[in-house]
Amino acid sequence: MDRHNWKLYKKNNIEQLWKVNNIQWINELFNFKSVKILSKFKFGHIICNKYIESRFLLKHKPILPYFAFFITTKCTLNCKNCNSMMPKYTEKTHSKPIKFEVFKKDLDTLLQAVDYINVFVLVGGEPMLAHDLPQIIKYAISKKQIKHILLATNCTILPSEKLLKAMKNPKFSVQISDYSHVKNIKNDVQVKYDEFKKLLQENGIKFNNYQEKRNANTWFSMPEIYKDRRAPELLTKQFDKCFANYCPTICDGIISQDFITVYIQRNLDSTTELQKELINIRELKSSKELAEEIINFYSKPYSKFCNYCHFENIKYGLPCGEQVE
Ligand SMILES: C[S@@+](CC[C@H](N)C(=O)[O-])C[C@H]1O[C@@H](n2cnc3c(N)ncnc32)[C@H](O)[C@@H]1O
Repeated sequence: MDRHNWKLYKKNNIEQLWKVNNIQWINELFNFKSVKILSKFKFGHIICNKYIESRFLLKHKPILPYFAFFITTKCTLNCKNCNSMMPKYTEKTHSKPIKFEVFKKDLDTLLQAVDYINVFVLVGGEPMLAHDLPQIIKYAISKKQIKHILLATNCTILPSEKLLKAMKNPKFSVQISDYSHVKNIKNDVQVKYDEFKKLLQENGIKFNNYQEKRNANTWFSMPEIYKDRRAPELLTKQFDKCFANYCPTICDGIISQDFITVYIQRNLDSTTELQKELINIRELKSSKELAEEIINFYSKPYSKFCNYCHFENIKYGLPCGEQVE
């Protein structure tokens, strides 16, 4: 890796660990003991970065500060401003709820190529749609290389006894969204937010609700997505401000930058240029080769996908969970 790429790798990967662990809603969910201790020192973040840097130089395997795993892109709701762009998927482009054996194989492949995963996020769509979720959670928890696990749910499907049992672990946490006020929900789907929350409380399972805690029951719109070409300096600036720079996401074995890039490659475009931005972990390759691809993934100033996202007309303060008519 040359000096330029090393600088980018440090910014996009090594230094992200401290940043991710200090994002308030993530910090509230997990007891990051090292962050607590290091925060007492003026140069705590530097000690953290140096430690991760040394691990990397020793092992030549990347850590994943934050990594999202699409359990399915399907959802029980159909939110107009969904940050995963779910209403824009079709039956053909959707990823169906993952089966345990496939999940296990993907996770094993990934873990062989990385040092560890700091925050592993099971996301959707609605992850509660997956029949194999108890096994999936149990397996993820059993992996020493996974430090913290988070599941985001819309509380329309209540967890079974088996699922609650699997969730009950200090490594595991649930982010519950409150869509109780939402009107025009179709297909007889019901939001069971209070019941879901009660079950978590009764079973001693950690959870968080971003909206409730911050009285921030509003959403923002998503960027307009269309093919474009912009100057590299502009793309770099956009990338650095976007959550895409810390939220790599895997869907059906393909790692891309975030939820929106998953949407683009599954629904809009998959040109050779964009293909080069993706990592297919189901292709035959050694764990060393996969590690190298992940390292290169983090060593970019921006992603070519950034050409598609246009943030000029973002609206804030939108009703949370408003359904598509
Ligand atoms: C896309 S959802 C997927 C998980 C699950 N179906 C749910 O609704 O919680 C993940 C998280 O993103 C939040 N979210 C989705 N769209 C958003 C938007 N436009 N603005 C702000 N937050 C959004 C949801 O409230 C939820 O906490």
